[in-house]
Amino acid sequence: MTEAGKKSEWVKRPATATEGANCTLEEYQSLYARSIEDTDAFWRGQAERIDWFSKPEVIGNWSFDPVSIKWFEDGVLNICHNAVDRHVEAGNGERIALIFEPDAPDGEVRRITFAELQAEVVRMANTLKKMGVSKGDRVTIYMPMVPEGAFAMLACARIGAIHSVIFGGFSPDAIAGRVEDCASDWMITADEGLRGGKRIPLKSNVDRAFEKVPNRGVLVIRHTGGSVSMTEGRDHWYHELSADVADECPCEPMNAEDPLFILYTSGSTGKPKGVLHTTGGYAVWTETTFRYIFDYREGEVFWCTADIGWVTGHSYIVYGPLLNGATALMFEGVPNYPDHDRFWAVCEKHKVNIFYTAPTAIRALMREGDTHVTKHDLSSLRLLGSVGEPINPEAWRWYYETVGGGKLPIVDTWWQTETGGCMITTLPGAHDMKPGSAGRPFFGVCPQLVDNEGHVLDGATEGNLCLTRSWPGQARTVYGDHERFIQTYFSTYKGKYFTGDGCRRDEDGYYWITGRVDDVINVSGHRMGTAEVESALVLHPKVSEAAVVGFPHDIKGQGIYCYVTLNAGEEPGDELSAELRTHVREEIGPIATPDHIHFTPALPKTRSGKIMRRILRKIAENDFTSLGDTSTLADPGVVDELIEGRKNR
Ligand code: WT7
Repeated sequence: MTEAGKKSEWVKRPATATEGANCTLEEYQSLYARSIEDTDAFWRGQAERIDWFSKPEVIGNWSFDPVSIKWFEDGVLNICHNAVDRHVEAGNGERIALIFEPDAPDGEVRRITFAELQAEVVRMANTLKKMGVSKGDRVTIYMPMVPEGAFAMLACARIGAIHSVIFGGFSPDAIAGRVEDCASDWMITADEGLRGGKRIPLKSNVDRAFEKVPNRGVLVIRHTGGSVSMTEGRDHWYHELSADVADECPCEPMNAEDPLFILYTSGSTGKPKGVLHTTGGYAVWTETTFRYIFDYREGEVFWCTADIGWVTGHSYIVYGPLLNGATALMFEGVPNYPDHDRFWAVCEKHKVNIFYTAPTAIRALMREGDTHVTKHDLSSLRLLGSVGEPINPEAWRWYYETVGGGKLPIVDTWWQTETGGCMITTLPGAHDMKPGSAGRPFFGVCPQLVDNEGHVLDGATEGNLCLTRSWPGQARTVYGDHERFIQTYFSTYKGKYFTGDGCRRDEDGYYWITGRVDDVINVSGHRMGTAEVESALVLHPKVSEAAVVGFPHDIKGQGIYCYVTLNAGEEPGDELSAELRTHVREEIGPIATPDHIHFTPALPKTRSGKIMRRILRKIAENDFTSLGDTSTLADPGVVDELIEGRKNR
């Protein structure tokens, strides 16, 4: 990717994006300058578009050393009021808030107006209260991609409960770990999910998780109608419990710094951490980024193909669009069911104007040929977006030419769970595009590249990507472990937020993300700690040691490569390999399924016992030429054996 990027290919901004766009280049330049030079005034202005019960006087109040981050700290608001009620109050209750496209193409489409959304959210909020949920409680949401997932998030926000959404593909163990970590007493789930015609046993996964951790109440939404077991006194059918609740529920006044949600994400060490976002800054950040980056215009249909279990779904299916009074499409299914044209069929069916997806999906669909795209009328599309991992220029070109007909702007948005919303991107109407480059910093974002010793690198250069200033959407802490927050993000380079990404900046000031520089891998846009997969592997009784690295994968971006040593007397083989893959799926979830299990008698270690991951990465990449200095290894012979093993695969 970087090689092609070096050619600095430009794509001039398409005229369709310039016309009436929210932001021209001149506006971008002056707004960006203001966001840096007069930060408080800038964000005070952006925050005007939010309804505050009490307007903030104090805007930014933060420090990265010591670490303390606050925005709008004396403001009072409710994000659900802003996403839902105020649009109804403004007379836009009949506007469509959510379009639901089910897994099955002939299934029932739902179009939910803002007025209906308000009624649904009130009903769920009152049901949660009836169950016993109160302000500040953590509520876990483990749902399929159905509107009730969004209702659940908004209902929590309405009553001041903190939601923690867990991706529906996670296993019972993963649920139990996350529920326990934030002491979440409450759960909202569904009987089953549906993906590509297959049923996902959500409620039964929850039951298995709760064999390990206690829980006070589970609200179960009937979706497929599949049979589930209900535990007396703990489990409640939503349609039963909600039958007689009141049809009014006031929005709880929340301080801007009151927690809004926890979202678990992987790091280079230990178990996933619960990244905490608060109310005011997150609202302003998602409202503003959505507005400028997607250049949304009234009446348009916006489709983000992410799952609400990830931050992309939080910020750009639920909060960002709804705060803007936009119509968001929610898709339950997968890109290749019933056929590889499903995305484009849905774009045509619902006249989607703005389409936001991940490079892994683009690559997978590109491989299936152009006719899946060209047989559909995609003339409604006006803007395309990419997120989750670097997009290789080849995929970018295909997206641009075949999907966008060579006329539409593409926003390649770089950001993270921790950033709350987009951080580096081109703005349609303002910037020319370079295939493979995320582009320029968004308002208030100050990227800096540093070398491994922390020296600041200027001009066109490559280094580790840091952010030197806070922005309203920044995560405030790791739930229950502020020390870990400081350690993870602010200790590598003191006084700076370290993203964990490598990055190149070119002579035009464009940023090119080169991928993670830590032990985090990005598999199909899903972020995973190699340590998590290793922990899962060593839980298996036959495994002695495991080292996991990423390797380049045509579709997934990165695949999962596992080096495994076995306990004495255990025999490697295809059967054990299959068993270990199943084992990891069960421990974490299908997204963590290893691509390769490489049995080896030993791992390459330094004399002090540290595993040489650099070497393991190279071997997994099939690159045996630049293994670097292996003389510090306790047993250099191990490397030759590993290379042989790799060649024979
Ligand atoms: C990591 C964050 C952003 C929401 C979805 C993922 C990678 C994300 C891009 C992009 C290159 C990207 C980075 C980042 N990443 N977007 N446009 N270009 N890389 O959120 O799970 O927190 O993962 O995804 O490596 O650190 P996440």
